[in-house]
Amino acid sequence: MTIFYIALIVCAAAFPQEIPELCIKAGCPKGGTVFDPFFGAGTTGLVAMRLGRDFIGIELNEKYCEMSRKRIYGELGKQNETRPTRMAEKP
Ligand SMILES: C[S@@+](CC[C@H](N)C(=O)[O-])C[C@H]1O[C@@H](n2cnc3c(N)ncnc32)[C@H](O)[C@@H]1O
Repeated sequence: MTIFYIALIVCAAAFPQEIPELCIKAGCPKGGTVFDPFFGAGTTGLVAMRLGRDFIGIELNEKYCEMSRKRIYGELGKQNETRPTRMAEKP
């Protein structure tokens, strides 16, 4: 499995979807996996999902983990849960 590492470091926790969209399209083919080690509100994951990529996200702050989880499950609901997704919980 090839993981395409895309580091997008900006100061706010959530950023406009156009930023990760551009990077993902440029750096990760469809079906590839995007890795965001500073997941924040999960915008990179949401956009990766919409673009047909898998993703792995790591986030230090529990509030942002919860926020990203809600956003991603919300998006999965919209997509009728057609794509299998596992989200690791805190050990
Ligand atoms: C600018 S935000 C990232 C935005 C995010 N990529 C998005 O799609 O919305 C940076 C995040 O990195 C997290 N962070 C900082 N240091 C970290 C670390 N050592 N490990 C994991 N997450 C970290 C912060 O809590 C913050 O939520």
